[in-house]
Amino acid sequence: MRSRYKPWAIEYLKNHTENEFFLDDQLEEDKINKFISEKDTYLEIGPGKAQFILSIASKFPDFNFLVIELDHSIAGTALKKIDEAKLTNVRLIAGDFYKLSKIFKKDLFCGVFLNFSDPRPKKRHEKRRLTSPNFLVEYAKILKDDKCIYFKSDNDGFYEYSLEMFKEYGWEIIYQNEDYQSSESDFDAETEFEARYKAEGIKIKRLILKKNKNTLTEVKEEK
Ligand SMILES: C[S@@+](CC[C@H](N)C(=O)[O-])C[C@H]1O[C@@H](n2cnc3c(N)ncnc32)[C@H](O)[C@@H]1O
Repeated sequence: MRSRYKPWAIEYLKNHTENEFFLDDQLEEDKINKFISEKDTYLEIGPGKAQFILSIASKFPDFNFLVIELDHSIAGTALKKIDEAKLTNVRLIAGDFYKLSKIFKKDLFCGVFLNFSDPRPKKRHEKRRLTSPNFLVEYAKILKDDKCIYFKSDNDGFYEYSLEMFKEYGWEIIYQNEDYQSSESDFDAETEFEARYKAEGIKIKRLILKKNKNTLTEVKEEK
């Protein structure tokens, strides 16, 4: 995601810690675990400016929602919106999910949202794609049994790659729609990128993938 560097957003992130758990390696694991244990909790990786999570969190006050955003400037913007919304069921971690995933216990989350993740089309960036094997095995560890990844994308190449990886890593496809309208599901909301792509006439691809006993928790060895 290209975004302008916003010094105010970095300052905001440093100075408003009520709804934030992590910045510059100051991880507050106890607070994170307490929040997750209070209610069924869903995780969004790469929330951007938090439009999606604020909509869904206000629709579902009985669930908690944790977001992890890599880019500190974007995370600061998201945090300000989260603070202003005055919802008690949303928290933000500013950091890289891949580096942070080890702090989460197994079988913790009731769902993972991947909305319009960066496609990273270059082969040498494959390991940074949020649906590459090293990420899929982390989702399999932190999700409870029979719980799901909710995936949406505009990008055909990334969608095809992700579908192949989900199949290869034993995720059960319980929903697949290559021309998805957000009104089709109650447990969903439009994201900022989704609105932009829809306005350009690009079809939205959506998948729901369930973790079951065949879902792999280790990366396969390359042949
Ligand atoms: C294309 S944007 C989509 C934003 C939003 N989900 C939407 O649909 O409007 C992807 C976001 O994922 C974040 N991101 C990419 N890799 C990440 C990672 N490993 N951990 C956390 N966030 C990540 C990027 O910084 C960016 O804000």
